[in-house]
Amino acid sequence: MSVENQGALADDQRADDQRADGQWSDDRDYTPLEQESLRQATRRYQQGRGSDLSAEELARISARVEELKREQHAVVLAHYYVPAETQALADYVGDSFYLARLAKTLDCETIVLAGVSFMCESVKLLSPQRRVLNPEPRAHCPMAYMVRKQDVDRIREQYGDDLAVVDYINSTAEIKSWSDVCVTSSNALKVIRELPQHNILFIPDMNLGRYVAEQLPDKHVILNRGYCPTHNRIIPAQVEALELAHPEAEVCAHPECTREILDEADYIGSTKQIIEHIAASDAHEFIVLTVVGVAAEIARQTAGQDKRVYFPATPPICPNMAMVTPDKVLACLETGAGEVELPADPEGAMAPLERMLELAAR
Ligand code: 13P
Ligand code: SF4
Repeated sequence: MSVENQGALADDQRADDQRADGQWSDDRDYTPLEQESLRQATRRYQQGRGSDLSAEELARISARVEELKREQHAVVLAHYYVPAETQALADYVGDSFYLARLAKTLDCETIVLAGVSFMCESVKLLSPQRRVLNPEPRAHCPMAYMVRKQDVDRIREQYGDDLAVVDYINSTAEIKSWSDVCVTSSNALKVIRELPQHNILFIPDMNLGRYVAEQLPDKHVILNRGYCPTHNRIIPAQVEALELAHPEAEVCAHPECTREILDEADYIGSTKQIIEHIAASDAHEFIVLTVVGVAAEIARQTAGQDKRVYFPATPPICPNMAMVTPDKVLACLETGAGEVELPADPEGAMAPLERMLELAAR
């Protein structure tokens, strides 16, 4: 394996450096809106729920959403990280790759995407003829912005034709347009193996990029210092405490976790892969190192099986995904608010997404 760390945030001294200095704190990186969302979502998680709505309100929302879906020929898609009550309104729940691929094949006029803004944008790019609604347009993935054009240009210049810029789908449409191909955590290894280039600039996520580099020793991977603030907050001490309490448990981690965490893992995969692994495994206990939203689908897929899952004591909650509550799904269908526009350079952003779909299907 060969890995270089040259990327965009190198001089920002974020992530690893803050953690090493012990300066990492919940307040440091999040906006006030995200901090408030995290506080509220953590409180709800500790109370065993994903929203403050009563059972009666949820039933009313669900009935009205069904009605509007029929009237508007609409389909609701949700990512596993949104609250369980929002997932319950969806026709399809899945990981980033599944949702992107599905968007092209649906027979509907309107798609409501319960997730963060880059997901809504990807669905609009892959399905431009449909109306796409984003229930909470303020829900952005912080990692989706963590790369600079000048760094991409510099590395392209340095390596010339034997370089592929590989862009994790967690990125804005503009960043996608700088790249050659997109990947998600479930198809990154397959897609990159298919690329003829030896040199890979992996943007924006350094943790997924490093994991890919370790799995593909024939490639020379150049990393950029983007990261997921939620997965970065999972630290070894939390995992060690869980391992001590549950010594028989299998440790399952998302590749957005840091290297120290991935080193502890028995299984590494995307949200969907982790869920399917737990459902198929002979083990009975699992330490799950990703956002707690996956618990709902794990419970569905392991119903009737004697399986228990444990999350870190500070629950990994994505404050942006947590903002996508059921009432907002209903509101966007009722008012048409949050309609997603095609970005400025749709062809430039769509090409790497289409290339991902093509290479992943080989
Ligand atoms: P996957 O669902 O593709 O594993 O992605 C995780 C994630 O962080 C989405 O933002
Ligand atoms: Fe972005 Fe992390 Fe939230 Fe996924 S979990 S949307 S990578 S901040």
